[in-house]
Amino acid sequence: MLKKQVGFIGWRGMVGSVLIQRMTQEQDFNRFNSVFFSTSQKGQIAPEVINGNAILQDAYDMKLLTEMNVLVTCQGSEYSQRVLPQLRKLGWKGFWIDAASYYRMEQESMIVLDPINRKKIDAALNSGIKNYIGSNCTVSLMMLAIQGLINADLINWISVMSYQAVSGAGANAMQELLQQTAILDRDVVATGDILETEKAIRLKSQSEAFPCMNFMTAMAFNVLPFIDTVLPNGQSKEEWKIQAELNKILTRADLIAIDGICVRVPVLRAHSQALTIELKKTVSLREIETLLSSANPWVRFVENTPQETAKYLTPMAVTDTLNISVGRVKRTNLSNRHIQLFTVGDQLLWGAAEPLRRMLNICVMEQ
Ligand SMILES: NC(=O)c1ccc[n+]([C@@H]2O[C@H](COP(=O)([O-])OP(=O)(O)OC[C@H]3O[C@@H](n4cnc5c(N)ncnc54)[C@H](OP(=O)(O)O)[C@@H]3O)[C@@H](O)[C@H]2O)c1
Repeated sequence: MLKKQVGFIGWRGMVGSVLIQRMTQEQDFNRFNSVFFSTSQKGQIAPEVINGNAILQDAYDMKLLTEMNVLVTCQGSEYSQRVLPQLRKLGWKGFWIDAASYYRMEQESMIVLDPINRKKIDAALNSGIKNYIGSNCTVSLMMLAIQGLINADLINWISVMSYQAVSGAGANAMQELLQQTAILDRDVVATGDILETEKAIRLKSQSEAFPCMNFMTAMAFNVLPFIDTVLPNGQSKEEWKIQAELNKILTRADLIAIDGICVRVPVLRAHSQALTIELKKTVSLREIETLLSSANPWVRFVENTPQETAKYLTPMAVTDTLNISVGRVKRTNLSNRHIQLFTVGDQLLWGAAEPLRRMLNICVMEQ
């Protein structure tokens, strides 16, 4: 059988490079021919994979793009917005698999998170849908973390506070945090007076020349409780996406109401989330643990102790793994039906690259 042609755009960014790493690990490249594109490096050497092209192609070469059976893009919304309509106008009928948010809420797009919505993905494929988009990183991670409660239809509403790593804003944002840390290490000499040292760090971080291109403020030794733009109701766009995308993935008669505050933190990789959940009925903590840990192979239930939390419930503990740790599970003082939990997962894996990788395999092997 003739191998399918798969084009990759955005493969050297944060999501793209993790995607290529995972696909190499799983030997996905054996299954199709790959063509690597670039918006900025046309003519340079392409990444070395089995059945791959040697030289990077122009990511705006519409003719070559239309020769692909599947296009996988981790380039960003601007690229998707510009290129997909042109391809469809040219009559291209291939599969478009995308990490960017731009097409997520369109009717002709399916948000992909196959451990949760595989049946819907199959129905979409059967009905001729061609656009398959990865969800917002916190949404995918949260849904897998609480899949057991979702499956048991136990949730009335969720209040969520997310603590999102700088790599969630791309490779340049992560570079900037490293640069800020290096500058502070180089320029601030710690004295025996701890308050003087803190002041020197603060003044340096607030100085005009300090590099703050990505977040409008220093991220080293800081947090920023705003991600993306502001909406008329006061939510950030990142916060709006949570309810919209979660409910689009589920598509049930009753919406799960969910809101919160998304916070950028100076963590390099992996997003954390603290959830307060109103359950539809009182359920024992033992039963909740069983539901959470048996829902999928990636949830790792963490005992509610300081030792286990420090060992398994931190960004560093889950980075570069598919594990989604869920811990601090407890009943609140609010009522018996309100529980709290903390969850952390690698936003570049289950939060971005892994659902796309799995969708690509569905398109290549089953279509
Ligand atoms: N980061 C996440 O955790 C995450 C999670 C879910 C979804 N997403 C979405 O996925 C899309 C891609 O996000 P991303 O975080 O992967 O973006 P990114 O790291 O900024 O990469 C996007 C593109 O920027 C160019 N680029 C410019 N400077 C670069 C550098 N120093 N290193 C590497 N690439 C550089 C590359 O394109 P050229 O090679 O063409 O120049 C690259 O493909 C976005 O729409 C984002 O919203 C991201």
